Amino acid sequence: MQRKTFALIDGDQLKENVEQIKNKYPDYQYYIGVVKNNAYHHGIKSILNLIEGGINYLAVSSLEEVLQIRKYHSSIPILCLEPIPLEFIDDVLNANITLTVESLEYLENLLKIDLYTNLKVHLKIDSGMHRLGLTSKEECEEAVKKLKKHSKIKLEGIYSHFATLGITDPHWDHQVASFLEITSKIDLKEIPIVHFGRSATLVEHPKLSFCNGIRLGIVMYGFSQSRKDNPGFRSRLRILKRKYLQKKNQCSITFLENDLHLKTAFSLYSSIMSVRKVTKGDVVGYNTFVVKEDGYIYTLPIGYADGVTQSFKEVSIDHQRYPIVSDAMDMIMIFGKDRKPIGTQVEIFGEDISISEVCRNLNQNAYHLLNQISNRVVRVHKTKNEKEEIYY
Ligand SMILES: Cc1ncc(COP(=O)(O)O)c(C=O)c1O
Repeated sequence: MQRKTFALIDGDQLKENVEQIKNKYPDYQYYIGVVKNNAYHHGIKSILNLIEGGINYLAVSSLEEVLQIRKYHSSIPILCLEPIPLEFIDDVLNANITLTVESLEYLENLLKIDLYTNLKVHLKIDSGMHRLGLTSKEECEEAVKKLKKHSKIKLEGIYSHFATLGITDPHWDHQVASFLEITSKIDLKEIPIVHFGRSATLVEHPKLSFCNGIRLGIVMYGFSQSRKDNPGFRSRLRILKRKYLQKKNQCSITFLENDLHLKTAFSLYSSIMSVRKVTKGDVVGYNTFVVKEDGYIYTLPIGYADGVTQSFKEVSIDHQRYPIVSDAMDMIMIFGKDRKPIGTQVEIFGEDISISEVCRNLNQNAYHLLNQISNRVVRVHKTKNEKEEIYY
């Protein structure tokens, strides 16, 4: 690794997270790991750790993502959450992909194809997100009837997706009601896998009795969304507001707390590439920082092309914080009063500066932050048995 900037991925932690989730929520048959965008940018090797933890189905966004995963995992079932254009049907069959059927038009085109081998499909229901899926009970009934008649296509699953957490608004309840209405003319029990929830709805809501599958995304990567971890004033205020809105909107019961003790598995490091002495009044970088007291500017080989900007605010060296005073496409500069040697490791986030803290500084959520750390950053995948550098 020439550029001393890397994301350290803790594979053992990912495995442990899934084990904990399964222990706490043991009533599902299918734990579908959402591993799109290279497992939320943790890297392809992380998928093995998630499977070791108990994930028994995967979900991704595209054919290309499945093909990548198939190089390592030939037999685990993989659902593509977006409809794959049917001109790629041969690739779908070769890679043994479970297709999402999200409209009657798509289904009719699929039925016209002379399939050379069996194909599994999941029907997607639009229960209120208005993004993908069948929208009425007539459409749903017709789709199921047509699929039942086909000898090579197996209707293996049916699913929908929650648009909100449903903790202060009535949308979660509306979506459940809408799903049951749209599927009211078919027998859900005849379909082997029924899945609806995602990470937040798993921990916030009771299990839906008609579901035997759950799609796990951000929670596997260490984000448990428990409200009790933060005892501060703002948090208490938020809880009061939540209780008030729940009552006002007549939301069904939700859980304020969960005792998952998950940890994030993604840390980001860079190192000091250059150092210079500066004195009060010097202007640093693209004129972004005027030095207020004598000290040192340290330049790190990480910039906004890697997903890191001045808005991250601080970095940590040997458990001490240093402000980021300037950024550019490939480098950031930090200021310190003590002299540090070239090569000193710098934590961008990880042990000392949590991902949640950076998210607060950036005013964005963990999904955005994880996915913005670009592929240029080498992933160093580590477990207790091995360490491997992964380049894209
Ligand atoms: C259809 C679908 N299901 C599940 C997930 C996983 O969501 P989460 O990370 O909130 O668990 C996603 C994430 O984007 C999704 O699009």
